[in-house]
Amino acid sequence: MAVQGRRYLTLQIIAVAFAVLYGGVVSSYVRPPPRKTLFLRNSDDDSSSPQQVHISLVGEDKMRISWITDDSSSPATVNYGTSPGVYDNSADGNTTSYRYLLFKSGDIHDVVIGPLKPNSVYYYICGPNSAQEFSFKTPPAQFPINFAVVGDLGQTGWTNSTLQHIAQSNYDVLLLPGDLSYADYIQPQWDSFGRLVEPLASQRPWMVTQGNHEIEKLPLIHTTPFTSYNARWRMPFEESGSDSNLYYSFNVAGVHIVMLGSYTGFEQNSVQYKWLEADLKKIDRGITPWIVVLIHAPWYNSNTAHQGEYESVSMKEAMEELLYKARVDVVFAGHVHAYERFTRVYNGKADNCGPVHITVGDGGNREGLASTYINPKPEISMFREASFGHGQLEVVNATHAEWKWQRNDNDKPYASDSIWLKSLSSDPACKLP
Ligand SMILES: *[C@@H]1O[C@H](CO)[C@@H](O)[C@H](O)[C@H]1NC(C)=O
Ligand SMILES: *[C@@H]1O[C@H](CO)[C@@H](O)[C@H](O)[C@H]1NC(C)=O
Ligand SMILES: *[C@@H]1O[C@H](CO)[C@@H](O)[C@H](O)[C@H]1NC(C)=O
Ligand SMILES: [Fe+2]
Repeated sequence: MAVQGRRYLTLQIIAVAFAVLYGGVVSSYVRPPPRKTLFLRNSDDDSSSPQQVHISLVGEDKMRISWITDDSSSPATVNYGTSPGVYDNSADGNTTSYRYLLFKSGDIHDVVIGPLKPNSVYYYICGPNSAQEFSFKTPPAQFPINFAVVGDLGQTGWTNSTLQHIAQSNYDVLLLPGDLSYADYIQPQWDSFGRLVEPLASQRPWMVTQGNHEIEKLPLIHTTPFTSYNARWRMPFEESGSDSNLYYSFNVAGVHIVMLGSYTGFEQNSVQYKWLEADLKKIDRGITPWIVVLIHAPWYNSNTAHQGEYESVSMKEAMEELLYKARVDVVFAGHVHAYERFTRVYNGKADNCGPVHITVGDGGNREGLASTYINPKPEISMFREASFGHGQLEVVNATHAEWKWQRNDNDKPYASDSIWLKSLSSDPACKLP
């Protein structure tokens, strides 16, 4: 965008060398060949045209519309309505931008619209005079609801394959357990990622939490973490009483979803821990019979990749009891570039009242797959496979949900792993005294 060319590239190379030196993104195991990284350029010459449009839920009946323009005079205004070309409503929001070394982002616009009706299609334009119409569907207010779940997405040919599979499914909300763009300090790659996901992310809410690739902190030269992530992927944290974009919760159609931050304080004296404790206490299982939690670094993992990391071991130590006592149904994680599903577990052992832990770090990023597993397979690991793909959680009603994982290698939609889950709130054996 604003600053490109050789000088910029040299600086970025120095930055990456710095990061590698400090152990930022290197790992010690060998991965199979990934597909090529894509770079999507802006296809529109008009600098006021909206780019990288994505939407996210705000409260029960509002939506945040986020987009970027190259110029700095486009207002943060969204016009919208329920028929194509007819925009009865309008809302204004905020515009921000950020700097990262020599890079200056475009204008990042954020507008919250609503109240909106559930399960309805809305048509919208970003900027008061934009010729490009987008549309989205709001999630249903009641069951059934269908979530697409995928982590470690990146922006390669495999990512594109994953996105095509997700686009074919009839999902209501996408949940992403961290590691989005794999820009890894090269800021224009965040813009490219925004363009790659726009066809999907402008049509359905994408709810994300952070992974290690979002940190982008550099010693001495850029010491603030999550600069790009926080500016580009603003999530509804204030609405759940959180003070940070790095952790928040929301309700949708009878499911309480908690997005945790694996790369910010999670110890028992941390702000996040206290927030989580209070958030879980507030849940009314009559309103949200299901609880789903997302983290990045998995607490249960029998892949040889990412064993023994602080964010896995210590976060589990700090928070597992809280989740167990709240009767969390499912914990989704990413980080390990493969798929693995555990049985209901607590404290390392099978436990009928513990959450099912599922790793879906198989979105398709440039680092490739994590294909070696610890043998023999632990008894609590029910299914593991190092293939790119994504998962779907269909919550049918207050008691039943179906989880399906689909690998990309299959041309036709075909569940490689699937299981029915019963909500813990409906299991009398899991009632707390
Ligand atoms: C705009 O910024 C103000 C002040 O920071 C904040 O209160 C408000 O919620 C923001 N609006 C949107 C749409 O993000
Ligand atoms: C993604 O895949 C589709 C179908 O194979 C192809 O038409 C499209 O050009 C690909 N997109 C990118 C950015 O490579
Ligand atoms: C919930 O869905 C399951 C699976 O489709 C079904 O067997 C069960 O009867 C449903 N329960 C209610 C109360 O409708
Ligand atoms: Fe990761």
